[in-house]
Amino acid sequence: LDNGLMRTPPMGWMAWERYRCDIDCVSDPKNCISEALFIDMADRLAEDGWRELGYDHIMIDDCWTAMLRDEEGRLQPDPLRFPGGMLKLAQYVHDRGLKLGIYADIGKFTCMGYPGTTLDKIQIDAQTFANWTIDYLKFDGCYSSTDEQEKGYPLMSKALNATGRPIGYSCSWPAYQGGLPPKINYTFLGEICNAWRNYDDIQDSWDSVLGIVDWFFNNQDHLQPAAGPGRWNDPDMLIIGNFGLSLDQSRSQMALWAIMAAPLIMSNDLRTISSSSRNILQNKVLIGISQDPLGFQGRRLLKEKSQIEIFWRPLSHAASALVFFSRRSDMPYRYQTSLARLNYTTGSYKVLDVFTGETASFPSHTTEFTVSINPSGVVMWYVCPTSRWIVLPTRLPRP
Ligand code: DGJ
Repeated sequence: LDNGLMRTPPMGWMAWERYRCDIDCVSDPKNCISEALFIDMADRLAEDGWRELGYDHIMIDDCWTAMLRDEEGRLQPDPLRFPGGMLKLAQYVHDRGLKLGIYADIGKFTCMGYPGTTLDKIQIDAQTFANWTIDYLKFDGCYSSTDEQEKGYPLMSKALNATGRPIGYSCSWPAYQGGLPPKINYTFLGEICNAWRNYDDIQDSWDSVLGIVDWFFNNQDHLQPAAGPGRWNDPDMLIIGNFGLSLDQSRSQMALWAIMAAPLIMSNDLRTISSSSRNILQNKVLIGISQDPLGFQGRRLLKEKSQIEIFWRPLSHAASALVFFSRRSDMPYRYQTSLARLNYTTGSYKVLDVFTGETASFPSHTTEFTVSINPSGVVMWYVCPTSRWIVLPTRLPRP
């Protein structure tokens, strides 16, 4: 969507995967969906170095509203869990240099049974969000028909635009229609949405990450051309820092999400996150790759019999990113190849290992090398023609 927003994949934090629909603020006050949770996470984003790296969105998901609209038909936050109201929360977030995202659903109800934004309510809800100075909307699709989705998603795009407030627009539409053409017209989606969920919800497990990776790269011929500045495929939240991934698997999720030019939206507990998880999420070179201004989504180049897979994303300044991913479960695998065999053209190259910081030089594209890839882990490289090496991807995405 050409509204000037999300020219690079959005970054930030979203409540859903980690906090779901926990509304029990009496016995679980630290984790329930309430303004206190968003204030806590906004503080962490602002104070722990996240915002400076580009993680500048804080997103509310399902279960924030009261069960009924107000007398004027407007959505209202649950009064016990959001006593200060949404405008005040948005001000708090804006005062810290962050943006606030909210959630609604095109159906009769949200997925968790809260009031939906049926076709007749689209305008009033868009205006309410704009009045609250909201910056981003995730528009879900539970309890809606195909027909309502076809009308509702474009209508909300128009309604948001008509408010005059720049509001990033993330559509869950494709995820409710199988995510593939001919049912999904990605050209059209790119005209009305800034990002879209294509596929199933992520869960806190490596199996879930693998399922998502398989679906996105098996369907890359349909999905990859759809992405670009202002229009992104969204394979769902980063679960790094939770319970389901080892450190190698966390690096793999981060690397593959950067290859996919995916939104980097964490759902974790920033108050207690370990330094090892934080280091992965705050890797500057990796974020630089994710946020490359070309906005070209990467592809899987190769699936080897050895269960090694190679992914590639072209970057600006003639650079590129490579990911060597192991689906093995035995021991670190020594994979031998050359840049020539990965489609690189004649020349000499320098590479930077994104996770170790080590560099290596290849006098020719045919120079053979070996990488050691841990089980369910990755090796990720920033690759640059030697003559262009001066350009390191350490540009901070948003100053
Ligand atoms: C389905 C979405 O895909 C999830 O990300 C989350 O928003 C839930 N609905 C909330 O009910």
